[in-house]
Amino acid sequence: MNEINQRYIDDQDSVPSRSIRLRVNRVMREVRCEDRQLLVEVIRGQLGLKGTHVGCLNGDCGACTVMVNGRIVKSCLMLAASADGADITTVEGFATGEGLDPIQDAFWSEDGFQCGFCLPGHLFAARALLTTNANPTDAEVREALAGNLCRCTGYVNMVKAVRKVARGRTQAPGTTEAPGTIGG
Ligand code: FES
Repeated sequence: MNEINQRYIDDQDSVPSRSIRLRVNRVMREVRCEDRQLLVEVIRGQLGLKGTHVGCLNGDCGACTVMVNGRIVKSCLMLAASADGADITTVEGFATGEGLDPIQDAFWSEDGFQCGFCLPGHLFAARALLTTNANPTDAEVREALAGNLCRCTGYVNMVKAVRKVARGRTQAPGTTEAPGTIGG
């Protein structure tokens, strides 16, 4: 082992660390983390919530997306220590009631889940869109989901899923949908 590697290993014992308190998926948690640890590392490692994924570690893919104090955050771009005291929702806490949230349900029924790796970013982006735009067009859905990369390249069914939720919320009971209003 060369000197640099040995020094790195020796450093592990002297890395600054601290305890932080987080409200995660509506439950208070206290964890110890190194000052240099990313939020995504603590969510997956110390908290054991593996639905938050590690993709690019560069802010490009959205696989690590969580909500922090009501804002969408790519957790690979945030130090865990700076989240001390924050209210965090991970994809495990996306549904607030029994069973799936309607957005998850639509992704499931429209086959938008695929491998599932990119889902955290897509689900949170879809919810944010539908909060501000009750009936988005395909183009608006695609724009809202941009910044989340699907390695299965299956955006078509995700757009269908989001449009399905919007239709379910805006369509009056008993009305029928005009054909051909959704698509890739
Ligand atoms: Fe965070 Fe890709 S892992 S954006």
